[in-house]
Amino acid sequence: MNEEQRKHTSINILDERDKKAAKKETKDYSKYFEHVYQPPSLKEAKKRGKETIKYNDDFQIEEKYRNMGKGKTFLIKTYGCQMNAHDTEVMGGILSALGFEATDDINTADVILINTCAIRENAENKVFSEIGNLKHLKKERPETLIGVCGCMSQEESVVNKILKSYQNVDMIFGTHNIHRLPQILEEAYLAKAMVVEVWSKEGDVIENLPKVRAGNIKAWVNIMYGCDKFCTYCIVPFTRGKERSRRPEDIIDEVRDLARQGYQEITLLGQNVNSYGKDIDGLDYGLGDLLEDISKIDIPRVRFTTSHPWDFTDRMIDVIANGGNIVPHIHLPVQSGNNQVLKIMGRKYTRESYLALVNSIKEAIPNVALTTDIIVGYPNETAEQFEETLSLYDEVEFEHAYTYIYSQRDGTPAAKMKDNVPQDVKKERLQILNKKVGYYSEKAMSQYEGATVNVLCEGTSKKDDTVLSGYTEKNKLVNFKAPKSMIGKIVKVKIDEAKQYSLNGTFIEETNKAVVTH
Ligand code: 5AD
Ligand code: SF4
Repeated sequence: MNEEQRKHTSINILDERDKKAAKKETKDYSKYFEHVYQPPSLKEAKKRGKETIKYNDDFQIEEKYRNMGKGKTFLIKTYGCQMNAHDTEVMGGILSALGFEATDDINTADVILINTCAIRENAENKVFSEIGNLKHLKKERPETLIGVCGCMSQEESVVNKILKSYQNVDMIFGTHNIHRLPQILEEAYLAKAMVVEVWSKEGDVIENLPKVRAGNIKAWVNIMYGCDKFCTYCIVPFTRGKERSRRPEDIIDEVRDLARQGYQEITLLGQNVNSYGKDIDGLDYGLGDLLEDISKIDIPRVRFTTSHPWDFTDRMIDVIANGGNIVPHIHLPVQSGNNQVLKIMGRKYTRESYLALVNSIKEAIPNVALTTDIIVGYPNETAEQFEETLSLYDEVEFEHAYTYIYSQRDGTPAAKMKDNVPQDVKKERLQILNKKVGYYSEKAMSQYEGATVNVLCEGTSKKDDTVLSGYTEKNKLVNFKAPKSMIGKIVKVKIDEAKQYSLNGTFIEETNKAVVTH
């Protein structure tokens, strides 16, 4: 990044206390004042330029940084979605390349990063209480560096709150510049004052960032970044920038490499994977094509998330219906079953077109598992409109759903809407909906009793070390007893008992190779 770009994209400030301290000391802090003070701007982040995206294959950790972490440890706390979890893997990769070692012990870690989620207010509250909890740690071990990154850092209100009330934080950086972690750390070590570097606009797609993956059985593969859908309630298009697809060959190479390393499952990630490829000029290649190419790679299971119902194509349905390694599980967020609410949400589909899509999917893939996301208590949602969400749920019979009470996000169009729905009514609607979710989840689970399923065995159960657990192709959690040597393998399990959210079974045998059963 050149100096000009830096001026316009970064904030690098000292607070009043530090300015005074800087004046008293003889050290030269002046360089920390030379950048324009520019808080992350949601207004800037909203703009979508026409410039084509550039790919950078030349990322390198400069020689001078390579020993920065020698003898030091790091810990990253991750909140939110799989995208964040994957960013944590990249930050872990960069920190390891700098010589830091991972630790689970927050009390001894030399660098603590909080990778944050901004999707709802309660997610943000959790983060603030976490940062608050770290105040005593910073007092006891002032040399510990505490960093806040991820989606919350992209919001000016959050940055201001941290500057004002959380002086224990040493670094704030955003989602667009995690590759600058070495420089940000260096500045934090040198400055002994809060370093804030947030880019409001996305930069290039950087291809060869190091990663330390969380496991060696399942892996996440980003296929695109950002979102241009601008659903009226959602902060993501502001915090994650415009849609940028990775080049097909880069994704395919990564998946091939994961297959060679013995990974059993990959999940292709994007805020709306259906838009894949549309932003690359002259590329006539979409998610259907990518799925088809990936289905030829020798990796047992391929998932993808998240799909927007608006641009789910017939081609995608065909490719998933062909089976192979693409699992028959589609997460298809509906958000509401009422046309008026969908319209105000800016979802660009109707109840009828959603149901038509579901029918086409069910016809082509009879054994498909559909799951969804739903928001209740949208501004001014009436009891009748909520009823339509319930009736849509009955029609589709989703196997599971993530349900949320609408949360107002600053800067989004919905935040300006007046809302006449009291919070306790919203809570009540959520409870009613969750009962339905539980009912259909139990119904879907009960159908497994007596059946034999393929389970990717991931490890021992959280509750009982003598029990192994893993997931079916359709993402059902299965617990069973088997030798620990089965961990990392796809095994056959006969289901004895179905619970609401998990299955108990008897181990039969290891499969040679997972064949996705449709
Ligand atoms: N309030 C409540 N839920 C939200 N989601 C996104 N933004 C909000 C918000 N402001 C939910 C949607 C989305 C999921 C990832 O989070 O259901 O699909
Ligand atoms: Fe948010 Fe809508 Fe984009 Fe999903 S598609 S990330 S809900 S704006």
